[in-house]
Amino acid sequence: MEGKLSRLARTLKPSPIQDLSHFAERCGAINLAEGFPDFPAPAKIKEAAISAINSDFNQYRHVQGICDMLSKMMKQKHGLHFDPLTEIAICCGQTEAFAATIFATISPGDEVVVFDPAYETYETCIAMAGGVPVYVALDPPHWTLDGGKFMKSFTPRTKAIVLNSPHNPTGKVFSMQELEVIAEACCRMDCVAITDEVYEYITFEMHKHTSIASLSGMQERTIITSSLSKTFSVTGWRIGWAIAPCNIASAIRNIHIKITDSAPAPFQEAALTALSSPPLYFKSLREDYVTRRDYVIDMLVMFGFQVHFKPQGSFFIFAELPENWLSSDVDFVENLIKKAGIAAVPGCGFFHTSTYSQQYQSRYVRFAFCKSMATLTAAAKRISELASIKDGIILSK
Ligand SMILES: Cc1ncc(COP(=O)(O)O)c(C=O)c1O
Repeated sequence: MEGKLSRLARTLKPSPIQDLSHFAERCGAINLAEGFPDFPAPAKIKEAAISAINSDFNQYRHVQGICDMLSKMMKQKHGLHFDPLTEIAICCGQTEAFAATIFATISPGDEVVVFDPAYETYETCIAMAGGVPVYVALDPPHWTLDGGKFMKSFTPRTKAIVLNSPHNPTGKVFSMQELEVIAEACCRMDCVAITDEVYEYITFEMHKHTSIASLSGMQERTIITSSLSKTFSVTGWRIGWAIAPCNIASAIRNIHIKITDSAPAPFQEAALTALSSPPLYFKSLREDYVTRRDYVIDMLVMFGFQVHFKPQGSFFIFAELPENWLSSDVDFVENLIKKAGIAAVPGCGFFHTSTYSQQYQSRYVRFAFCKSMATLTAAAKRISELASIKDGIILSK
């Protein structure tokens, strides 16, 4: 039956994260692998969705109010003016917005610069469009951007760069200095910046999210993609958007209409309630995540992990394996699932560059802390049964 598959389908591999999640589910493991919250979404927005269904918003739909609100928010947050009628396209989550953006801008042979480690879906989308991902390694332990290395990755075929900040899997928020380096390169090399800002409201301490579109000369060459998913704990609602100059936004909208027609109507209606949440909502979101982040860091350190980089945003910790674990990250995670009943993601799935030795790439594990305190406490209990502060890790192979 292999022959019945298209050339493209034959090149696509199943996501290792999903494979592990299924394995974890079969083992009844606590899921600290996947980036979706296991606690309820805000009651008010759920009521808005229920009310939309009861009001029979059940057909294909474009809710212009979302674009109006996003335009207002872009002005307030980043000082940017976007025409809500022509420069914003509503899609099914950031995932579709990103895919449509790639299809709208990337032709076969175009190169797209991506920072490494990277969220896994970028590569597939770029490859589906016939583009070529070119990876630039961020330097551990703080995942800093080396401007020289970055500039060397550009060629006459470079069409775009992908910027995900706050960053999955590391929790890095790109600094203003780094954004300036990226913006300058985009302007100099006449490239577009495709951003993934799904964690825009999940930043910690003094770290703030700045959209690169707000830097000089960038609005006309930036396509912002984001969604409701992470900010409102509704990853299953599939409401996202792309914000871009008119001609690109129009191409994205056309592609979106041909692929999915419209985002789910009742959830578009509920998005109006979500996006009008008061500042207090966003403040408590950040504060709650700081508590969860610190709790999981303490748990991991107790287990023997090395957390050299405290996440500045997003809801992931990219922790370095205990020194006395001599095997791979994949082996570690399999053991963690089997022996502790906890699922996490081996870091190797996020690395693409060959700059590092294989050993380096297999020394990280990603833990998601977007879970209820009850889930995190249960995970800590399971871990404490395997490890002691004094002995560090005792998870044997
Ligand atoms: C960096 C990043 N971008 C996008 C997504 C998916 O966003 P959405 O649910 O809006 O498609 C995720 C989900 O884990 C993510 O981590």
